[in-house]
Amino acid sequence: MHKFNNHWLKLRETIDKKSRNLKVIKLINNKFSKKDCISIIDLGTGAGSNYNYLKPKLKFNQDWVFTDISSSSLNYFKKNLKTSKKIYKTKFKIFDVIGELEKITFSNYNIVTGSAFLDILPRNWFYKFHKFNIKTEIILFALNYNGSFKFYPKHKNDQEIINLFNIDQKTDKGIGSKAIGPDCSKLINNIFNKTHHTYLMNSKWDVVKNYKFQKYFLNFCKEVIKKNNIDYSLWLKFRYQCITKKNSRLILQNKDFLAIKK
Ligand SMILES: C[S@@+](CC[C@H](N)C(=O)[O-])C[C@H]1O[C@@H](n2cnc3c(N)ncnc32)[C@H](O)[C@@H]1O
Repeated sequence: MHKFNNHWLKLRETIDKKSRNLKVIKLINNKFSKKDCISIIDLGTGAGSNYNYLKPKLKFNQDWVFTDISSSSLNYFKKNLKTSKKIYKTKFKIFDVIGELEKITFSNYNIVTGSAFLDILPRNWFYKFHKFNIKTEIILFALNYNGSFKFYPKHKNDQEIINLFNIDQKTDKGIGSKAIGPDCSKLINNIFNKTHHTYLMNSKWDVVKNYKFQKYFLNFCKEVIKKNNIDYSLWLKFRYQCITKKNSRLILQNKDFLAIKK
């Protein structure tokens, strides 16, 4: 989950698109039904999956600012960017959203958003982020890993692997401090419900036929197992065999978080 190479991000995009909760879109479109153009900032843009999903679904015209610490991802996205009549402006900023949060003028934006981003952030970031966004009209963080995934067919070691994986999700994901991991949705919801109407909606991955994707995800599990130095070779063998035989399914629980200013 912590390898943010562009290949993985693109592989995720098709699965993410199918997973996201459509009620979120309805609520946002209702909120801005009378506005002509909406300013949006995307945090941790990566290869642009959040924009690609939201752009056609949002009914209003849009100005976008894309931010990511990775110039490789932002440049990749810039090369592949597709706009439409609804997209008035786009801007790319290579930016550290954790260390330089206070440099963003959040009052310039109607929507602050991100996807598959919250779980890698440190706990104290959430309180700081709220302080700067008390007046923001819409906050949307989609596809937040929620601590549960299942491969089918089942195996007796499944829960042990999930436990290892979840512990690993709370380690430093390359940002210099421990990540919040699967608790991210609960935490952001508890913080924002004082100032906003908040929603946590299901956006689970259900990966049936995309065996390439399943293998990629299984490789992440393999890395976690290796780090922990525990012998789960039989579990891994079983899982890879199921994928090879095309008899495998992966379900992973995510939440979409939406906050609308009270
Ligand atoms: C899992 S990817 C998600 C990318 C994209 N939003 C998506 O849904 O596919 C997380 C992204 O956060 C970016 N990131 C990590 N630390 C960051 C930081 N301190 N500031 C800005 N972006 C960061 C990574 O470079 C990566 O592109």
